[in-house]
Parts: sequence; structure tokens; C-alpha cells
Amino acid sequence: MSFSIIGTGSALPKTIQTNDDLTEYFETSNEWIVSRTGIEARHICIEESILDIALEASLNALDNAHINPKELDLIICPTLGGDTVTPSLACLIQEKLEATCPSFDLNAACSGFIYGLDLADAYFCRNREMKILVVAVDAMSKLVDWKDRSTAVLFGDGAGAAILSNGDDLKAIRLTSVGNQHALCIPWAKGNHPLLKDQETPSPYLLMDGDEVYRFAVAAICNDLKTVVKQAGITFEDLDFIIPHQANLRIIKSAAKRLKIPMEKFALQINSCGNTSAASIPLVLDEMNRQGKLKPGMRIALSAFGGGLTTGACVLEW
Ligand code: ACO
Repeated sequence: MSFSIIGTGSALPKTIQTNDDLTEYFETSNEWIVSRTGIEARHICIEESILDIALEASLNALDNAHINPKELDLIICPTLGGDTVTPSLACLIQEKLEATCPSFDLNAACSGFIYGLDLADAYFCRNREMKILVVAVDAMSKLVDWKDRSTAVLFGDGAGAAILSNGDDLKAIRLTSVGNQHALCIPWAKGNHPLLKDQETPSPYLLMDGDEVYRFAVAAICNDLKTVVKQAGITFEDLDFIIPHQANLRIIKSAAKRLKIPMEKFALQINSCGNTSAASIPLVLDEMNRQGKLKPGMRIALSAFGGGLTTGACVLEW
């Protein structure tokens, strides 16, 4: 295992919408949303492009790591997509940073940050002297149907970044994929080839079977955390913090109860940001780092699940 996190950064769009604000768009209530999800507000990209928040998070992480963009050897951008299909968001971040390294997007939905760390780990096996930026960015407000109250209330926009350098913070990591199109899906535009004209146009927005995702998520967090803790040769008691994907407070509480881990060990930001997809874990990591909560030697587990379906977890020693 082959890297250390030497800097973190994050960015949230300026516009905040509370649950009460959403009652203007459809019939819902603060009580329904808070009791089902733990979400009270979310940030939405209105004035900002997706690139704007990606860039701000990247610059914050570079600054925190005292690294010049020219020193970067690779940019990995876990995302469901930026402002354009091509160029990739990673390439546009690279251009704005005036970095000169290869850059690409990675699609593992909400598990993207951990997939990015795993990929970076493989690069470090090739060359230990690299500096890698992993910047996870999603603007779910552009991918949900704002006429569907059952999904629109769950998400928010954001970006979270980490700079990785030679080291041995990573103690264990595990990824899984279980292909499944009906639990969670965002269909792509079907195109306008003349021969396609009689086919029904699918909704371009997120479709979700909430119950199925819920059950999958609780089981995934439990299995993945047990596996990585064992791989790292430690127990849950040895963990100082767990940063779970911030999709739903009930999912986190349910996993905590099954694993018999006190809720105080779970770092949470879901109330103010909602589910920011790939950005959710690095957003919390950066908040904790800036608040001075991460001390040298602390052990932190990250655990995510998302569309694909994908899951990922890892143990880091700070
Ligand atoms: N406001 C008010 N009522 C609503 C809303 C809303 N925003 N949305 C749905 N309802 C209604 C439904 O219409 C339904 O009404 P009915 O009984 O009259 O038909 C009722 O509330 C109950 O709906 P359910 O879907 O049964 O609500 P449930 O308690 O199961 O909660 C939820 C739904 C929150 C989506 C839950 O299934 C869940 O947490 N699933 C996990 C999915 C998740 O967290 N996804 C995040 C994205 S996935 C990822 O990050 C990878």
C-alpha cells in the first residue's frame, strides 16, 4: 500500500436550499425529509458551473498540500459527468490549473472517490514519486427530475479533493461491483438517428428503487467495513472515525447498529449537504482535516456505495 494524503480541499455552490424551500416545487415537508433521510438543506449549482466547484476544491487541496499544479503527475476525477461529455471534467480542471499531466474522469457513481484512491494506489506501485490529485465532483441537481419529489429531495452538489504523495497511509482497500440497471439508473440521451424516431424517449433523469438501494447499502457498508478492518489487521474499536457515504442517515444508523459501532464514530455532514454522490466522502474528510480533527496516527475507515451498483471501502492511517 503506497500513498499518503498530504492535502485536502472542497467546494460547495453558494445557493443553499432548505427543505422548506423545496415545498415551492412539490408537495413535501421538512418533517418528511428529515425523518426519512436526515437531510435539512443542500447546495445547488446555480451561479457556478460544475468546473467552477471542481477547480475550487482542487486549488484548496493543492494549497493545503503546498503543491504547485505543475508538480502533479496525474489528475483522476471521479464524477458522473461535468459540464460537457467531452472534454472530460478532468481535462478541463487540468487546463485551468495549467497542469501538464494526464487527466481523466472515472465513473463509479457515489463510490467514485474510493475507486479513485484504488486506482491511484496502482499508479504508485508503478512510480512511488508521483503526486496525484483525486477530485470527486458531482452536480446531482442537474441529474434528478425536479418533478419527482421522491428523489429530488435527496441530493446536493459539491466537490471534494485529495492530493496523494509517496507514503503508507492506505492500510486496506476493497472495491465491488454488482451490475444492476433498475435499482439506480440515469439513462443517456438516446440520440437522434432518423431510424430511432418511433422509439419512446426515456426519461433523461435519475430513476431509483429506494427500497432496493436501502437494503443493498446497509449490507454493503457492513460487509465492506468488516472486510477492510480485517485486511488492515485491526478491529472496529481501533478506528477513530468512519466516514460513510452521506446518502441517508437511516442507512448509516442501520449499518452502525448491525455492526455494533457507536454512532459517535461516524462523521456526518448529511444534514447540510444531502447526498453529493462521489463528493460526499472527500467533503467530510476535508471538513475534518480543516477542523483539526484528524491527528497523526488516527485510523479512519471510508465506506461508499452507489450506482452501478458499486461499493468501496478502505482504512487509512492519518
Ligand atoms: N415528501 C413527502 N412525501 C413523499 C416524498 C417527499 N419528498 N417522497 C415520497 N413521498 C411519499 C410517497 O409518495 C409515499 O406515499 P404513499 O405511501 O402515499 O404512496 C410515501 O411518501 C412513502 O414513500 P416511500 O418510498 O415508502 O418512503 P420511504 O420511507 O421508503 O423512504 C427513501 C424513501 C427515503 C428514498 C428510502 O427508500 C431510502 O432512503 N432509500 C435509500 C435510497 C437512497 O438513500 N438513495 C440515495 C441515492 S443512492 C446513492 O447514493 C448511491
